[in-house]
Amino acid sequence: MCTTFENNSVRGPVNSWMFKMLSGYMNHLFGKSKRALFKNHPQTVVEIGPGAGANMRYLRKGTRLIAIEPNIHMHVNLKKSATKYGICLEIKTIVGEDMDLPDNSIEFVVCTLVMCTVSNPAQCIEQIKRILKPSGVFVFIEHVRAKEKTIVSFVQNVTFKPWLWFFEGCNTKRDTKSMLESAGFSSLSIEEYNSYSPFVPITPQIRGRAIK
Ligand SMILES: C[S@@+](CC[C@H](N)C(=O)[O-])C[C@H]1O[C@@H](n2cnc3c(N)ncnc32)[C@H](O)[C@@H]1O
Repeated sequence: MCTTFENNSVRGPVNSWMFKMLSGYMNHLFGKSKRALFKNHPQTVVEIGPGAGANMRYLRKGTRLIAIEPNIHMHVNLKKSATKYGICLEIKTIVGEDMDLPDNSIEFVVCTLVMCTVSNPAQCIEQIKRILKPSGVFVFIEHVRAKEKTIVSFVQNVTFKPWLWFFEGCNTKRDTKSMLESAGFSSLSIEEYNSYSPFVPITPQIRGRAIK
């Protein structure tokens, strides 16, 4: 079972700073989708890999957020975001593949741009299913592997190694859609689309909702 995360003392703080700096632009790119996906969320939300807290602006003030964030360099900005948006933050320095939350205990799990980075995404999805109550909801936005023989797949191939290194394990060629489809949720809606931005390797994306 994968239970460790390698905290990098240089790239960790750099990425944390960068995610914080980019949060306005990310809101421009993802705001509409996130507002729709997070609408009517319950009082307690579990977020896998919240990074610097990009999603807190879409949560109601006073929401209890259980943040599964193994990268300790994200924690300072995560706490700052919680203060800014009035979120009751509980950080767990553990990986999504090995959560210590009880079975069938959570109504709502959020994950954005994370399945690319977790070491074992299938195991992480299995854990999400485990902690969700029956009829609990998992909402996600992820970038995925491009269709073969396209310009974006060429760019993903060329940038693969430096991107993986700089973004601490971000694999731009993951087929997260297939993993979600084989995870056995009772209902799954996935929309495939392209998000055009200067970050070409993460152009092909999926967003959607899975129900346990
Ligand atoms: C690209 S960032 C996305 C941050 C945020 N969700 C967002 O949308 O801006 C990926 C995040 O996943 C976290 N992460 C990496 N491996 C993880 C794991 N195994 N379990 C949980 N989170 C993980 C990283 O520390 C990082 O904060």
